[in-house]
Amino acid sequence: MNVLLTGGAGYIGSHTAVVLSQLGHQVILYDNLSNSSCIVLEKLAQIAGRKIPFVKGDVRDTGLLSNVLASYEINAVVHFAGLKAVGESAQKPIDYYTNNVQGTISLLQAMQLRGIKTIVFSSSATVYGEPRYLPLDENHPTNATNPYGRTKLHVEEMLRDVVTSDSQWRIACLRYFNPVGAHESGLIGESPCGAPNNLMPYIVQVAAGQRAKLEVFGGDYPTPDGTGVRDYIHVMDLAEGHAATLNLLSQTTGWHAINLGTGKGYSVLDMIQAFEKASGRQVPYEVVARRAGDVAECFAYPNKARELLNMTARRTLNEMCASAWRFQQSIQFE
Ligand code: NAD
Ligand code: UD1
Repeated sequence: MNVLLTGGAGYIGSHTAVVLSQLGHQVILYDNLSNSSCIVLEKLAQIAGRKIPFVKGDVRDTGLLSNVLASYEINAVVHFAGLKAVGESAQKPIDYYTNNVQGTISLLQAMQLRGIKTIVFSSSATVYGEPRYLPLDENHPTNATNPYGRTKLHVEEMLRDVVTSDSQWRIACLRYFNPVGAHESGLIGESPCGAPNNLMPYIVQVAAGQRAKLEVFGGDYPTPDGTGVRDYIHVMDLAEGHAATLNLLSQTTGWHAINLGTGKGYSVLDMIQAFEKASGRQVPYEVVARRAGDVAECFAYPNKARELLNMTARRTLNEMCASAWRFQQSIQFE
């Protein structure tokens, strides 16, 4: 299958490119490089053993997208491109709505023009908002609590309307929990620009000595050790989930929302401990006040992915930490 990955040079897109290309799909990356760099293209070529076609472009450029869809004879799109920082989305909501919502509309217009009706969308567990019960299944009510989350929800709803209007569409909204880790080669991984917003990249930088200590946001949650609990999933498991989803969509039409998580929750202190063990480094930390907007616990009920995609996240917490550390070392000594 010829698959276009918008945002394909980014963290999750690049890992998915490896998996799809190893399965024999022809993968084309489309990215404006606003949060990634061309270096990843060289690394991908090293891992895949061949160059992966890349087009520099913005998803809001419907004309360019439409040309790319036609010239590469694309059969399906995996739509990663977008902005993803929750805090920033409250400061710059217009940027978030144009990139994430307008960008998706532009992509759908280009797809419609070319008669391409298969799309996998990168959604997020953030669409559930404050959990009313745990684990979170796909029927849990949605209620995003910040502009970033609302862009995801708007796109999910838009995609549902598209299927209602034309039953030939094949659409999956993958609700990612907390992707962490890196490809086993250590060649690609997560390298955020500026100070990391998320836990794992922050731990990695503290362990590498780039930051003095980790601030643990809240030690008084109603959790076993008082710190926040999340469902961390290895990015390669997540990437494999996309391949399985394309397979599902080749057999079925309609709109599907599917959780991608492990079903298991780990606390911030669990993560620190696991990372110290995997890296052999110390991660100094201090417990500080809770971060506004955080919930105590969030983890998935992953059975729908198991049933529909025949997928179970199989990589361990140790593999998540060890691979993230391997990637950090590879960029540190470059
Ligand atoms: P990322 O920033 O590493 O990758 C996104 C890529 O999209 C980047 O390479 C960026 O340059 C590109 N991009 C952004 N706006 C674009 C535009 N207008 N046109 C073309 N390219 C554009 O992020 P990621 O972690 O790989 O996330 C991928 C997707 O998954 C995003 O939609 C994100 O919201 C979603 N998601 C991520 C997480 C996570 O924790 N990483 C969790 C849930 C959902
Ligand atoms: C964040 C986003 C969420 C997104 C998810 C996956 C917020 C409020 N939510 O969720 O929308 O879908 O990432 O990318 O940003 N922590 C610390 N110290 C730190 C950083 C984090 O203690 O320096 C704690 C947090 O309080 C939380 C856990 O670590 O308990 C995980 O945090 P993070 O990696 O930011 O992910 P989420 O909060 O789950």
